[in-house]
Amino acid sequence: MRHHFGAILSCGLVFASVLAAGQQPTLKDAYNGCFVVGAALNPAQFTGRDAKEAAIIKAQFNAISPENVLKWEVIHPQPNSYNFGPADQYVDFGQQNHMFILGHTLVWHSQTPKWVFQDDKGNPVSRKVLLKRMQDHIKTVVGRYKGRINSWDVVNEVVDEDGTLRQSPWMKIIGPDYIEKAFEYAHKADPKAQLNYNDYNLENEAKRKGALQLVRKLKAKGVPITGVGLQDHVSLDWPTADQLNTTIDEFGKLGVKVMITELDVDVLPSPFQDPTADVSVKVASNPKYNPYPNGLPETVQQQITNRWAELFRIYSSHCGLVTRVTLWGVSDKDSWKNNWPIRGRTNYPLLFDRESEPKPAVKAVIEAAPKKPS
Ligand code: XIL
Repeated sequence: MRHHFGAILSCGLVFASVLAAGQQPTLKDAYNGCFVVGAALNPAQFTGRDAKEAAIIKAQFNAISPENVLKWEVIHPQPNSYNFGPADQYVDFGQQNHMFILGHTLVWHSQTPKWVFQDDKGNPVSRKVLLKRMQDHIKTVVGRYKGRINSWDVVNEVVDEDGTLRQSPWMKIIGPDYIEKAFEYAHKADPKAQLNYNDYNLENEAKRKGALQLVRKLKAKGVPITGVGLQDHVSLDWPTADQLNTTIDEFGKLGVKVMITELDVDVLPSPFQDPTADVSVKVASNPKYNPYPNGLPETVQQQITNRWAELFRIYSSHCGLVTRVTLWGVSDKDSWKNNWPIRGRTNYPLLFDRESEPKPAVKAVIEAAPKKPS
């Protein structure tokens, strides 16, 4: 009986044949051969303290990102002191489970301590000093995980909404070549690692144009950039399918891989006119921005399910060019979207609910996977 059932489905979706074998289909299996499916992890998950989610991660995902433990403020809080413990545990977890391991992130304006940009008196440091600090940090962190972390977000969020380079302390003190220097230092520390530029809102035309220009310039100069990460902190209606397809195609034409690096789907009303994922922005709490504190109406749940399926259909229509789709967390209970940009909201941005149970969207995403040839 099982044999017969399996034969009928042999040309069908991977999940169908897995079902025939009596197992639950998984996200990573559904997209096997297209892209890896990842999640950003917190320490409770990679230490196994959150045993339920550790089990979900091992079963469903084959790529991991560190939600915070590799950021400068965590791994290098003081000038001469590194805090490698949590990052070591994160990388060990990935290796033990044969996962594609991400490093996030080396050069960013957020979650970087003030001392990085200042001298003993609190004045801005010189270009030379900051370049040296950046080089030491990259050499130390990338060097430590050489051959173990597969892919690094070398620079994060370096383009502004109008397409110009963001006026971060990196930019102001070093100048625009801080970006290529960061890639060069990372490449030197681990010549085999994939090296990416990661950003949000690249689906918006002005910002995308600036980012395309940046990547084009870096490639022309021979800077070792291998990929562009689209964060994709999305909502139900932004970005459109058109915006997503165009963005993936246009970066693809430059000869870089495209990765979806921080996917989540926000269903709460936004306090902003235009989408943003700038972590430094904070908005005062107000019940009108928290409409579902006790659960989602069925109609909204259905909209979310459809949106997840749509997103994965779009991404997988670019198999090979899109090499990874990573969700920014596992379950709604831990998502940063409960506390940003407004603290204490009840949000529903991920594939597992507050009890870490799969939402209907899990099945929808698996069913959206491309059919495999028999
Ligand atoms: C977020 C984390 O999820 C939060 O825990 C932290 O407090 C702030 O940063 N863009 C990024 C991520 O590149 O690193 C951010 O992660 C979300 C926006």
